[in-house]
Amino acid sequence: MRVLSGIQPTGRFHWGNYFGAIRQYIDLQHGNESYYFIANLHALTTVRDPKVLAQYTLDAALDLLALGLNPEHAVLFVQSDVPEVSELCWLLMTGTPMGLLNRCHAYKDKVAKGLPADAGLFTYPVLMSADILAYDADVVPVGEDQLQHIEVCRDIAASFNHHFGETFVMPKGKILEAAAKVPGTDGEKMSKSYNNTLEIFDDPKAQKKKIMSITTDSRQMHEPKEPDGDHLYQLFSLFATDAEREELAATYRRGGFGYGDVKKQIAAAAEKYFAEPRARRAELAANPKKVEAILADGASRARAKALQVLTRAKKACGLS
Ligand code: ADP
Ligand code: TRP
Repeated sequence: MRVLSGIQPTGRFHWGNYFGAIRQYIDLQHGNESYYFIANLHALTTVRDPKVLAQYTLDAALDLLALGLNPEHAVLFVQSDVPEVSELCWLLMTGTPMGLLNRCHAYKDKVAKGLPADAGLFTYPVLMSADILAYDADVVPVGEDQLQHIEVCRDIAASFNHHFGETFVMPKGKILEAAAKVPGTDGEKMSKSYNNTLEIFDDPKAQKKKIMSITTDSRQMHEPKEPDGDHLYQLFSLFATDAEREELAATYRRGGFGYGDVKKQIAAAAEKYFAEPRARRAELAANPKKVEAILADGASRARAKALQVLTRAKKACGLS
């Protein structure tokens, strides 16, 4: 089975990205042929500062490698290093009905909010389809919000195959565990767009400050509380063993505790949990040549595969 997914370098990765996506990508690299890429072409639809985009792209590579993405198991590369995908995107674009893209939420949401939307955002699902089809991917693990784009990809692939003959492998979406919906510092879903994130590799002191400022309700210290549904309890659970989680749940039900103590426990647990990756990241950051070499090797392996598929597709539609 060939697994493929992409993640946009639109900011530093946060706990939601890790527990909701990255950790699962890392698990899937074992026992599958896997391709993971940093979707900088997609990020260009929102990040318009060249220095910032380049920095986020490098940070994304460092974060993924430090967290355990292993280039010996998975092909890790940067999207724009595989120009074959952009060429394939055009082939797909010519057969994509406007109506299909009109229904896509990324574009619709922006327009509904009155924000300017460009052709890049409108055709974003076609580039995403090219990303997937270029590697004959069987399975695409994504968050629920991306499932619509996988359906678009399947529609585009089916229509190309129907018109020009069997060319593309039909991919399947695999929803990443919904159970891992991570709350942010305001109790809502953690997301860059809500400004409520806790970054994986933030400086521990600065992060502790953010954790201590997490919004809570006005419960008094002596009052018991049901842990399920409480965002501090959910955050602690991300890092805790079953026994530690049970212990905190019992404390909640007994009452007589303060939220401040729970926050301190979260900060300590998170620091310990990410200590090893943090050290690995520092090592990698001090060795940029090594990271460059990993990405160059990933790009050359990805290009070899993408060229095969592009050649097949060009032949099919009379471009060879
Ligand atoms: P953001 O909302 O911060 O912009 P993205 O949309 O770039 O994050 O998400 C990248 C991946 O991380 C997606 O697969 C998404 O499902 C996952 N993800 C993001 N935030 C969370 C969260 N709070 N809980 C679980 N998964 C998340
Ligand atoms: N659009 C995806 C996101 O925002 C990122 C992405 C780009 C992607 N190309 C992809 C994901 C191909 C899976 C497959 O999360």
